[in-house]
Amino acid sequence: MNPLNHVAIIMDGNGRWGLKNKNSRNAGHRAGIDTVEKIINETIKNNIRFLTLYAFSTENWKRPKKEIKFLFNLLENFLNDKIEDLNKQKIKLKIIGKINFSTRLNNLLRFSEKRTTKNRRLQINLALNYGSKVELIDAFKQLKDNKEVINEKNLKKYLQTKNVPDPDLLIRTGNTKRLSNFLLWQLAYSEIFFEKKLWPDFNEKDYNKIIRKYKNIKRNFGNI
Ligand code: IPE
Ligand code: IPE
Ligand code: MG
Repeated sequence: MNPLNHVAIIMDGNGRWGLKNKNSRNAGHRAGIDTVEKIINETIKNNIRFLTLYAFSTENWKRPKKEIKFLFNLLENFLNDKIEDLNKQKIKLKIIGKINFSTRLNNLLRFSEKRTTKNRRLQINLALNYGSKVELIDAFKQLKDNKEVINEKNLKKYLQTKNVPDPDLLIRTGNTKRLSNFLLWQLAYSEIFFEKKLWPDFNEKDYNKIIRKYKNIKRNFGNI
């Protein structure tokens, strides 16, 4: 059975769910929050140490301003409501991506990271304004500025996921098979599951089914 230390998830399909069920994309984003909570709890139950959630990509700025505003309000409310609970559950929150939002949200994100920094049960990497290409370019720039040898070990030091093992498992909900600029380096050897269900419909049972399948895969890493 394969060990499972790190699950990464592309939480896709909120907009379509909202349109279908409530005639509003934003209603789908709101419903998606419940799935986030379910999956966090199930991740803890499965004793998984790292969970990386793709919440907003560098490309998502192309969306209508109203939807973007709604998403960040939702995030702000979620953190204000839940950060103490997360802390009690011994969850460490880390933001990956560039924190350059409103001053209020920037402060809340930094506070949430600081508040939970000592926790060791589960680390949640929340990918916000995250893009893998920007991350890699920044890392190469730092290697160059510091006149360091370009190799795997040195490059990793400058990734946003430094100190985090690469994902063992990537799940993308929403019936779309692409990576959308997510963890391109880190996913080199991850097992990938594309799930038909939209994110708000995804549940503990679906998650555990994927985990069970993952555990039985023969992972070769180039070997036989
Ligand atoms: C994913 O759901 C959440 C974010 C990108 C914020 P979408 O909003 O992409 O939902 P669909 O793909 O349009 O249904
Ligand atoms: C990927 O979903 C980003 C997040 C889930 C945050 P998108 O819905 O933005 O991806 P594309 O644009 O359809 O590839
Ligand atoms: Mg989408």
